[in-house]
Order: sequence, then structure tokens, then C-alpha cells
Amino acid sequence: MQTLITRDAIRPLPIQDLVSEIENGLLAKVASISPKFLYDPLGSHLFTAITFLPEYYPSNIEKSILNQYQNEIASAIGENTTLIDLGAGNCQKAESLFGLLKPSTYIAIDFSVEYLNEALFKLQGHYPQITMNAIGMDFSQELKIPNTVPLSKRIFFYPGSSIGNFSASEAQTLLTRIKSQAGDGGLLIGVDLMKEDTVLKNAYDDPLKVTAAFNLNILRSVNSLIHSNFDVRQFRHLVKINHQENRVELYLEAQEDLIVSWPGNARPVKKGELIHTENSHKYTIDSMNKLLNKSGFKSIQVWTDPKQYFAVMYAQ
Ligand code: AVI
Repeated sequence: MQTLITRDAIRPLPIQDLVSEIENGLLAKVASISPKFLYDPLGSHLFTAITFLPEYYPSNIEKSILNQYQNEIASAIGENTTLIDLGAGNCQKAESLFGLLKPSTYIAIDFSVEYLNEALFKLQGHYPQITMNAIGMDFSQELKIPNTVPLSKRIFFYPGSSIGNFSASEAQTLLTRIKSQAGDGGLLIGVDLMKEDTVLKNAYDDPLKVTAAFNLNILRSVNSLIHSNFDVRQFRHLVKINHQENRVELYLEAQEDLIVSWPGNARPVKKGELIHTENSHKYTIDSMNKLLNKSGFKSIQVWTDPKQYFAVMYAQ
């Protein structure tokens, strides 16, 4: 029995890299902010709230698929694994699999380290038999699992269709990295499937405006990182569905002419101008199978719901 939760276990992300990334996005012809900045402590809580919305179907459907096919999934994966949770957030999804998969080690990885540390600390108290470790990492840039984690039986867990927040080529890069680090293990992944516009619109522009708050909060998250002067009241949440690219796109639309400034720089923003904040790509089972194959995975098992809104896949 071993516990590895300490603040030292968490690698802080270099703040200067984050500041440069935000500045480059804000100064580009079409302004953008990377979706990873959605997940400051408040943003992480707002995302959790989104997953409780009846309109945000991915969470509920993924949960029901994992529940309905738990025996098949467990026998595909096996026991005593090292469960590596990519984008662990509040760690609840992984926790729901502990009883089923009985991992001996749980490695939680997330960009939002404060939120992760808090969640993992509580979790360790409930599961003292599982060795736990938290890593603060932007795995969209690099994926480095410490050498101390045995190569055998590494099961990467990437639920919630977070893969959809990457472009196809970024997704392939990440999946290839996962494959190269999975050894004789595999990847359990949740994938959101293409569907009617009305369902997508409701999921990403919900009537309670939780998604709007989540999207607008990125401006506050940026303010605290680069000391900019964004005022969330000057923007509104906007959702577009891009059929050519098979994705939902999130923007913030300026409601008036304004100048956003931060130490050393500034940018005028015209009324109606958009800041791009997120893409959420939707796949078909076939297109995800092809992407996994191109990334080096040879054997793929798929479980889905009756409406084929969402798929859970285990790839090796
Ligand atoms: C985390 N990710 C998979 C969510 C999605 O559906 O793309 C983020 C999100 N954005 C708005 N609502 C949820």
C-alpha cells in the first residue's frame, strides 16, 4: 500500500509559455484563445456543471454505455492495471471504473493542477489500496509518463470525447503518442458521434446558460494569467456548427467596439468580431476507427448506445 500524493508530485507548467501562447492567439488576425484556458478552477467547476445538464448528452450516454457493457469492457482490459487518466478533472469518471477494473495504480493527469490536486487528495482517502499520483501536464504538447510507472498494463483512459477538441492531425499525434507509451496495454476512449444540429445546438448553447458562463469565463482565466482587462459583459457566447469540418465551434462575440490591453500590448476588437475558443469535432465509428488505425492501434472494440450518439472504444 502506497500513497504518492504530495504537492511535489505535481509539475507546475511554465507560466511564460502560457503567457506567450495567449498573446500570440490574441494578436492573430482572427483572435483565438486555446480551449485549455477554459479550465481554471471556476471553469473546471462550470464544466462539471455542464456534465449535469440534460441537454449535454455526452456525459450521460457515455456513463450508460460504460454501465451497460461493463463486463465486456472489464474482460477486454483485465485487472491490476495502471490506469492513466488523461484530463482527469474531478477524477469521478475514473473513480466509477475502480470497482470494475480494480487498477493497482491510478495516474491522474490534467492541465488544471489545483483542481486535480484537490480531487485526488480526497480520492486517495477513499481508496488507500490504489497507488495514486497526480501530474500537471499539457499533454497536447507532450505526453511523458514517468519511467517509474511500469510499462506493462498501462491503460490510458480518455473519456468525454475530449479527443474532439483537437484537429484531426493533432488527434492523430496524441493518439500515436498514447500508443507508443501504452506498451502491452491500450486506450479506453469516449467518442462523440455526428448527429442532428438541434441536438448539438442544445448541448452547446443550453437554456440555463451554463455553457455560456463556461465559455465567457475563459476571459477571466486569461485576465488572471496575462493581467489583461477583458470585461465578460462586453461579449456573448456564440455557437456555430461547421458541417464541412464535422464540428461544433465556440466563439465569444464582442458586443461593442473595445480595446483589450495587457502589460506591453493591446488589441482593438470591433463590435461583432469573434474570438474563437473551442472546436468540438464529431466522428463516425468508421472515421474514428480509421484515425486509431493510422495512429498504430490494430485491434479496436466498440460499444455504443441505441441512437448511436456516442461510442466507447477500447483500442490496442
Ligand atoms: C471537454 N470537451 C469534450 C467538451 C466538449 O463537448 O467539447 C467541452 C465543452 N465545451 C462546451 N461544452 C462542453
